[in-house]
Amino acid sequence: MKAIKITGGKTLSGSIRISGAKNSAVALIPAAILASDKVTICNVPEITDTDALSEILTFLGAKVHRASESMVIDPSTIENKEIPENISKKLRASYYFMGALLGKYKKVSMYFPGGCSIGKRPINLHLKGFEALGATVTNEGDLYTVEADELIGDEIYLDIASVGATINIMLAAVLAKGKTTIENAAKEPEIVNVATFLNNMGADIKGAGTSKIIIKGVKELKGCFHEVIPDRIEAGTYAIMGALCGSYLKVDNIIPKHLEALLLKFDEMGIDTEVGEDYVIVSKPDQYKPTSIKTMVYPGFPTDLQQQFTVLLTQSKGSSSVEETIFENRFMHIPHLNNMGANITVKDSKALITGPTPLKGTKVEATDLRAGAALVIAALLAEGETLITNAEHILRGYEEIVEKLTNVGAKIEIVEID
Ligand code: EPU
Repeated sequence: MKAIKITGGKTLSGSIRISGAKNSAVALIPAAILASDKVTICNVPEITDTDALSEILTFLGAKVHRASESMVIDPSTIENKEIPENISKKLRASYYFMGALLGKYKKVSMYFPGGCSIGKRPINLHLKGFEALGATVTNEGDLYTVEADELIGDEIYLDIASVGATINIMLAAVLAKGKTTIENAAKEPEIVNVATFLNNMGADIKGAGTSKIIIKGVKELKGCFHEVIPDRIEAGTYAIMGALCGSYLKVDNIIPKHLEALLLKFDEMGIDTEVGEDYVIVSKPDQYKPTSIKTMVYPGFPTDLQQQFTVLLTQSKGSSSVEETIFENRFMHIPHLNNMGANITVKDSKALITGPTPLKGTKVEATDLRAGAALVIAALLAEGETLITNAEHILRGYEEIVEKLTNVGAKIEIVEID
């Protein structure tokens, strides 16, 4: 088992280059199946989640070539076979193989996906979308088979603006007959990135980034070259580190608009930032004003930054609050933060934070990816040494986190433990 060891209290300065977005790359890689020839995706982060997807592609018979941050996928040799449980359970995003294989071959057989245990995370809306396109869904336990004689476009209303369901329905609909409309679609930048990729391949998708997406089915999709957008959640995580430990810490290669909700909260708290065309520079202020956040779909405050932001609020003078509205189980980092000295109480979907409280290093556990990122932030701020166990969760989503933080002055290393 891997753990991350951090000695806190160091000032972070210099520049951190943000990688390609995990939640975009994990959809683009399965989407490549829809092309009839070679696809090149660049700026793919080297994290265990993208490794797991390339393992599924290879299992299916695609040729995958990875050179640094580019991934070349030739799907022409794919054989559509059942994806085994041990690989589909490695991550959440394996569910994108459902939409992509159904769209291309009109049949998919695979197990329920894995991923962080941050809530129930059903896939009923994905399946409702596939059924609306004419597919039949059957399941034996966790093994799902979705198949259709042909897929025909329809109007689909999503009861929740789900990121996964929006992307999966786009993947299933691009080669369907006729027009598909997704109402109450999610609007996250990753959805726009995936729609642009499919359009580059020859699809006809309009409205991505709004709550109504219209897809006109086409006969064939061709190979193309595409770039993953910068990871707004990775960027936000490092910006929060800058707000707590930074002296002119530059978070580079970002799209500042994607970080608007976070940067406006920084402003409310009295944290100064300098925003350039593709970077933000953050420094630690003398004191922090308290504030409240409520997680919302994009462009609201992202649930994927909620846990990291909570660490920042432990340093505000007075009472702050965090309300989580997207996932039911995203407070697993709180007992660990309290062990480090924070004063946080949780009631239902709300956390109340009283600060400022100094934090002290101790042994804590990364229960999920963003909980792990929150604990890295807490450890950088804390006095003394922190050992974060289950670090595999963190490595699923943060490319070269140890190298990036070491380069700006942190004392951090990965250690193997029993
Ligand atoms: N939901 C349903 N039914 C569905 C689909 C979703 O009830 O069929 C519910 C979920 O249980 C949740 C809400 O709808 O309560 C929103 O879920 P959504 O489908 O939007 O999330 P997701 O596709 O499972 C992706 C990201 C998450 C990110 C969320 C929200 C990927 C692989 N995962 O998850 O990323 O938190 O969107 O933005 O793209 C992370 O990176 O740490 C992470 C968890």
